[in-house]
Amino acid sequence: MSAQHEKGEIAVIILAAGQGSRMKSDLPKVLHKVGAVPMVGHALAAARSLDPAQMIVVAGHGAEAVTKAVGKLDPEAKIALQTEQLGTGHAVAQALPLLDGFNGRVIVLYGDTPFISEATLAGLASHDADVVVLGFEAADPGRYGRLVTGDDGTLQKIVEYKDADETTRAIRLCNSGVMAADAGLLRRFIGALGNDNASGEYYLTDIPGMAREAGHRASVVTCHEDETLGVNSRAELARAEAIFQTSRRSQALEDGVTLTVPETVWFALDTHIGRDAIIGPNVVFGPGVTIESGAEVLGFSHLEGCHVSTGATVGPFARLRPGAELGGDVHVGNFVEIKNSVLDEGVKVGHLTYLGDAHIGEHTNIGAGTVTCNYDGVMKHRTEIGRNSFIGSDTMLVAPVSIGDNAMTGSGSVITQDVPADALGLGRARQVVKPGLARRIMQALREQKAKKG
Ligand code: UD1
Ligand code: MG
Repeated sequence: MSAQHEKGEIAVIILAAGQGSRMKSDLPKVLHKVGAVPMVGHALAAARSLDPAQMIVVAGHGAEAVTKAVGKLDPEAKIALQTEQLGTGHAVAQALPLLDGFNGRVIVLYGDTPFISEATLAGLASHDADVVVLGFEAADPGRYGRLVTGDDGTLQKIVEYKDADETTRAIRLCNSGVMAADAGLLRRFIGALGNDNASGEYYLTDIPGMAREAGHRASVVTCHEDETLGVNSRAELARAEAIFQTSRRSQALEDGVTLTVPETVWFALDTHIGRDAIIGPNVVFGPGVTIESGAEVLGFSHLEGCHVSTGATVGPFARLRPGAELGGDVHVGNFVEIKNSVLDEGVKVGHLTYLGDAHIGEHTNIGAGTVTCNYDGVMKHRTEIGRNSFIGSDTMLVAPVSIGDNAMTGSGSVITQDVPADALGLGRARQVVKPGLARRIMQALREQKAKKG
């Protein structure tokens, strides 16, 4: 990054007010997900990579839902409302009052264009022309705005497709929509935009031409067309998802992760997997998953909002839900669900178990069929289990309840009282044995059946 655009001098405006009518959806377009994260989250993450002083999302259609989602994705981002969608220039104008007093660089992104890379943005941000536009050579330039460049390669102006003549339409260098400009320049020219054009809209794309005419320098930075892919329909959303997954799978392999059947593993935008981790077939990562190096996730497991430490094994057919924290060498086997629970080092939960709102101390073994009964119909309660303990198969732990260190519970117990350290907790009917009774019952039943014919 050049000296004049150091940390703190960048503000990002993300345009997200459009309706996205071709999605045919009640959900605002930018809230449709790619990689398990709303598209606007991709723009926010890319923006965040620039370490900006401010981030502003311009919301309009579905503003309430967009505001709520943005608040979760990045609580520091602000919202500017654009009640009527009068064009991209008008959208940026709605955000500028929130940047009063800011004199750095402003970068404009679209909320429906999820693949602009951090490297491309960094390159754009560090360019020192007064206005810089991100362009690309389009295989099919279609209806994109065209970038008219001078002999010296500088940008003269942008012409929207609808307003372009045949010669201009023949240009293949197109506008991605991403633009960087000094805040002062933007303020000056945004106010002067008119809407006397084929769409009757205030075009952000008029800014470079206006700035240049006033003696400022305008430039183009280019990127690969794949980065500029915008989503306007369900088909494009599906294509974006496929592109995202393909690229994340390659990246994981590149990073030293084994994916036994790569095309069946599903990533989220923020999935982190350390090297030498092994991921089996049909594993789905929802948002917020970290798998440390050397951990193994076997086939058909579904993970979300969880952390799996080195040496741990998960699955096959395991479900880790938000707040599942697995320490080193923990083993979670098949048909086990874990939510909001910390499993310390070496804990084993082999089969058919639900652990919710619990803490399990190191090296404790949880028998098959164990359930933490954490919900009483109204509230959630915690289960605390010490270290080196042994929970017998089919134990119901009725929370709130605690089991001490080195303790045991008998199989089939319903544990409603705390079990102290070193104790055995038994909560089941005492066994009775009736010699010969099985044989007599069977005999009686067979006789009954014979009588009925
Ligand atoms: C825009 C560019 C065009 C570029 C293309 C790239 C303009 C005038 N044209 O055209 O040069 O090649 O993107 O995809 O900028 N939006 C708002 N408020 C509005 C209008 C739009 O927030 O009033 C948002 C939309 O939600 C969308 C983005 O801005 O995310 C772009 O708007 P869109 O209408 O898709 O612009 P294009 O006509 O595609
Ligand atoms: Mg568009």
